[in-house]
Amino acid sequence: MNQIDLTGRTAFVTGSTRGIGLAVARALYGAGARVAIVGRDAARAQIVAVELGERAVGVGCDVADRGQVEDALAAAEAALGPIDILVNNAGLTRDNILLRLTDEDWDAVLDANLKGAFFTIRAVIKGMMKRRAGRIINITSVVGLTGNKGQANYAASKAGLIGLTKSVAKEYAARGVLANCVAPGFIETDMTAALPSEARTALLEDIALGRLGRPEDIAAAVLFLASDLASYITGQVLVVDGGMVI
Ligand code: NAI
Repeated sequence: MNQIDLTGRTAFVTGSTRGIGLAVARALYGAGARVAIVGRDAARAQIVAVELGERAVGVGCDVADRGQVEDALAAAEAALGPIDILVNNAGLTRDNILLRLTDEDWDAVLDANLKGAFFTIRAVIKGMMKRRAGRIINITSVVGLTGNKGQANYAASKAGLIGLTKSVAKEYAARGVLANCVAPGFIETDMTAALPSEARTALLEDIALGRLGRPEDIAAAVLFLASDLASYITGQVLVVDGGMVI
């Protein structure tokens, strides 16, 4: 009961060639799942998959492009079997104060972070309904709950992802499909590497547990939500932030 075993399940993890997505892919693979590594750079995705092992496959896909999403899902399913676990992790930031946000900054962030999740979910949901089983886990952010100066586009995309998740949870619960969000706080990855050290120190003061998060902290939450231990949890936002937003 306490050991998480995902043997025989197939996971599709977007943006999984580095950072949080890679940690999630490793955790799911470590629990026995077959894993599709999905990145914009197909060659890189294939290298990561080879490093992971024979139950992994690498596919190239820009999640903001519906055709590429459908092709990547078809390729992953041909190689590994039907998708049981979908993790929408791909995401990007284009930070600026609202007055200086361009239309392109808005569209790039909303397209990758929110529309991409809509594309992947719409493409996998039919199969999950038919099999009356599926887990959808969307990586949002605490910023989607609190808002943030300089991140109107990003916060809107992450808040939108929460609304999308809750709606999917309600629509497909009766068909055995569970949908939840994980909301990371401040995690050390390439996305946050550029933050100046003063800002980093100020942030640390707000984190009750006194340290920044690691990608593995988020992966553990995703692994739990993908497992049989979480079979009575849907439509929720699991905040993993070391007590930053309490
Ligand atoms: P990262 O920048 O290291 O990784 C994001 C990955 O998504 C990259 O591999 C990138 O190429 C990929 N990606 C971006 N746009 C894509 C697209 N259109 N199609 C396919 N792949 C795309 O960032 P990190 O930190 O690992 O972030 C992962 C997720 O966690 C993101 O959704 C991010 O918003 C979220 N998050 C991260 C936090 C942090 O503190 N690092 C905090 C809260 C949320």
